[in-house]
Amino acid sequence: MTYALNLINHPLIQHKLSLMRDESTSTGSFRKLLREISQMLAYEATRDLPIELVTIRTPLVEMSAPKIRGKKLCLVSILRAGNGMLDGMLDVLPAARVGHVGLYRDPQTLQAVEYYFKVPDDISARLVIVVDPMLATGNSAVAALDKLKAAGASTIKFVCLLAAPEGVATLQAAHPDVQITTAALDQGLNDHGYILPGLGDAGDRMFGTK
Ligand code: URA
Repeated sequence: MTYALNLINHPLIQHKLSLMRDESTSTGSFRKLLREISQMLAYEATRDLPIELVTIRTPLVEMSAPKIRGKKLCLVSILRAGNGMLDGMLDVLPAARVGHVGLYRDPQTLQAVEYYFKVPDDISARLVIVVDPMLATGNSAVAALDKLKAAGASTIKFVCLLAAPEGVATLQAAHPDVQITTAALDQGLNDHGYILPGLGDAGDRMFGTK
């Protein structure tokens, strides 16, 4: 079974995303908006977490109260742009562990090259949420998921800000078991692998590099 794309068409997210796309938006505002959208994407991506009823006492009575059950969470950032989503995700999921996968895109081949990999030892016992704002060719995402599965991760979600149809197709073909949550599905890629209309280089825009 291939998961349907979880496209979050919420007015607040769309409004903030339009501000992020605008080239005149400052580095500070870009970062803040990404944090705010990441909070909302975390909320949407965790909609299907299982719950169980536990007995608690309010100051008035005893009740059966819903709590999340099952696997604990691990967020995994694909460096470096993925880090821009971590703070917002952790605002909503403060107890999550955090892993990092360092990949860069070879500008000629657009293939992902790994330079760093660090995740919790118990990754196999956790629900893993991989974050990267831009799902462009999908090569980095596929490489990151390959590595995470090789390290034992078995329940994985992927959360991004913008996706290109090419990246969605590549990721779904390689990892059909991974649900993709995104705030927008854009038109496609240019010859350099950038998403159109997109927002430019997400890492450069959030860190103020160029
Ligand atoms: N990475 C980015 O930062 N932007 C794109 O458009 C594609 C990949």
